[in-house]
Amino acid sequence: MKTVAVLYGGKSGEHEVSLISAGSIIAHLDKTKYSIVPIGITKEGEWYLQTLPQWAYTPPEQGLMRALPEIEKTSRVIAVPGRGLWLETEKRLQNLEIDIVFPVLHGTFGEDGTVQGLLETVDLPYVGADVLGSAVGMDKEISKRLWLSAGLPIVDYISVRREDLSDKNYQTLVRKVETRFGWPCFVKPTCSGSSVGTSKVNHPEALKAALLSALRWSERALVEAFIEAREIECAVLGNESPIAFPPGEIIPSHEFYDYEAKYKDPHGASLLIPAPLSEETKNRIMSIAISAYKYASIKGMARVDFFIEKMTGAVFLNEINTIPGFTAISMYPRMCIHAGLAYIDLLDRLIELGIEEYGAKRALEYDFSTT
Ligand SMILES: Nc1ncnc2c1ncn2[C@@H]1O[C@H](COP(=O)(O)OP(=O)(O)O)[C@@H](O)[C@H]1O
Ligand SMILES: [Mg+2]
Repeated sequence: MKTVAVLYGGKSGEHEVSLISAGSIIAHLDKTKYSIVPIGITKEGEWYLQTLPQWAYTPPEQGLMRALPEIEKTSRVIAVPGRGLWLETEKRLQNLEIDIVFPVLHGTFGEDGTVQGLLETVDLPYVGADVLGSAVGMDKEISKRLWLSAGLPIVDYISVRREDLSDKNYQTLVRKVETRFGWPCFVKPTCSGSSVGTSKVNHPEALKAALLSALRWSERALVEAFIEAREIECAVLGNESPIAFPPGEIIPSHEFYDYEAKYKDPHGASLLIPAPLSEETKNRIMSIAISAYKYASIKGMARVDFFIEKMTGAVFLNEINTIPGFTAISMYPRMCIHAGLAYIDLLDRLIELGIEEYGAKRALEYDFSTT
């Protein structure tokens, strides 16, 4: 029996989405193999032991944004460097005896390498990408640069910092955007998720407000050409030799796949699994997804997202998500399920990969005083 700490909630715009993903993971983990320790992170970033959540067992068809519980703040969880996770009781600390941590945290302070760094420091195995892979996956500019150097088909971009909006620099930026992309263009925060702070910009007068909105969420923003595209997603799983699953397609009913379409509007998008693609395009997407995963140094799992331009059929790599939505109706697990990997077995595999990766890292030499 392994003890799995499921870590959820967190200091992120995606706190609620994390509760839903974690609920689904807790419901599906094989109870004959794992004992589950649910750890909730408040919106302020504090860690508390939770009672096994009832909402974990509510079928997701009842609406994704149904009333979700607050994180219970009774027993605090403490991280001790080199010594794992502990529970604070009245008189003393009690070791939680965790075998592996499953971080189910979307977005900032969870999917970006920060929690992964803490777990390295307390010396516990964990599921998914490590510090580097998480940080690269979170940063849409750094990941594009790595992919570009590998010859992968990224969406061209201009990176914008707050200083580029000053009176002195702004007109130069507008001219650059106009020459390179024209209108409409697309603006998004460099390090964020769930489409927050993103917008389609139809004319130059709307550019500044769009950039200011994106820069509320991230220190840098990206401007890209607006691509009228089909949205294709591909699940990748593994450490050194990752495999890709046949892709799925998202068909948003909104102008693009915005926050409302993702989480609020029950008719915001439909998912097609598998995506109707020619054999050639399907194989090309799966192969680019594996390359993108490897070049971004990702371990465990990731969902790699693509655009196929409607007019030309051109394939573009958009972004990579190292902790993708994980409810039973989310794309990542559904693509795996469709290919014959049941949700319960997918969770087993992710845990196995996390333990393997911990072993591989610990097998490396780090003390050269004795050599
Ligand atoms: N260059 C673009 N052209 C058109 N639509 C885009 C572009 N970039 C993003 N989008 C739309 O915005 C959504 C969110 O953008 P994305 O880059 O995936 O960031 P997030 O991390 O917030 O999901 C995409 O799913 C897509 O619908
Ligand atoms: Mg996306």
